[in-house]
Amino acid sequence: MATRIGILTGGGDCPGLNAVIRGAVAVLSAAGVEMTGFHDAWDGVLEDRYSVLTPASVLGIIHKGGTVLGTRRGSPLDFSDGPDVVRKRMQQHGLDGLIVVGGNGSLTVAHKLRDLAGLNVIGVPKTIDNDIQGTDVCFGFNTAVQIATDAIDRLHTTSESHDRIIIVEVMGRDAGWIAAHAALAGGACAVLVPEHPQSVEELSRLVRTHHGAGRTSSIVVAAEGAVKSYGSLSRLADELALGTGIETRTVALGYVQRGGTPTAYDRVLASAYGVAAADAALQGAWGSMTALVGGHMSGVDLSEVAGKTRLLDEATYDTMRRALI
Ligand code: F6P
Repeated sequence: MATRIGILTGGGDCPGLNAVIRGAVAVLSAAGVEMTGFHDAWDGVLEDRYSVLTPASVLGIIHKGGTVLGTRRGSPLDFSDGPDVVRKRMQQHGLDGLIVVGGNGSLTVAHKLRDLAGLNVIGVPKTIDNDIQGTDVCFGFNTAVQIATDAIDRLHTTSESHDRIIIVEVMGRDAGWIAAHAALAGGACAVLVPEHPQSVEELSRLVRTHHGAGRTSSIVVAAEGAVKSYGSLSRLADELALGTGIETRTVALGYVQRGGTPTAYDRVLASAYGVAAADAALQGAWGSMTALVGGHMSGVDLSEVAGKTRLLDEATYDTMRRALI
């Protein structure tokens, strides 16, 4: 059985990361396994920066956003000797395996380290974008949708007063999960997602129909991935103002969606991911990623996840879009 396990958090931060760490520490320490937490993602592994994690050291972090371990972009595969340094570091610390909590990039790196270098890794899917293949929901997504919805609630009153359109850009580099959910929850009249490009003419027609039907506040929610196809947010706003004849303003919510306290749902979900990752390590399920499938925690092979993106599915998009008024 494992005696010491490492953990790192990689890629963009995400509400719930601390709950994952805490959940894994709780289970592994109860099993007599010691934990090493590497600082700043792979940088900490390459540069040997770490802390020993104990139940006492993870007290009081479940409600905190961000990650107590720190995170960075970047990968050991950026260096020719990177995988060897990771192997050496794991041997030096007596690690039986490494839990990698990360997004599409980090999980692809984890898969390659398993596949090419035979390292014992377990992935945990993390992103507010909710676009990781193999799992039904990523922790952090619920918090991001709630933050975006709260912001939209506030924007309604100001746009109503001025009889304006406000385009709210939400995160979602490749997928429209946050946009679709926040648009519906926030009572927007239109949603733009990368999976379903819409011309400005179509969008203008739609907004005019809604705006003409007695409303004086038209909120359009756009995923950042969709905004790119129009050139920029300000360009989209200019063209929408021209197309509708209605004054149009913009708000890019940006990192606000990743900051602050995770919702209770995300604290629980992230803890479940941490517990499942610890169980997978105890069972030696190396090369797998913990996944929520049909409401239950299970594992999928990292090869099914690496290099893939889970786009907003047709049925969800259709439901969200048709429920907009
Ligand atoms: O993947 C999550 C995400 O928040 C994306 O929505 C966004 O495009 C990206 O991270 C921003 O990353 P960074 O923190 O590197 O600016």
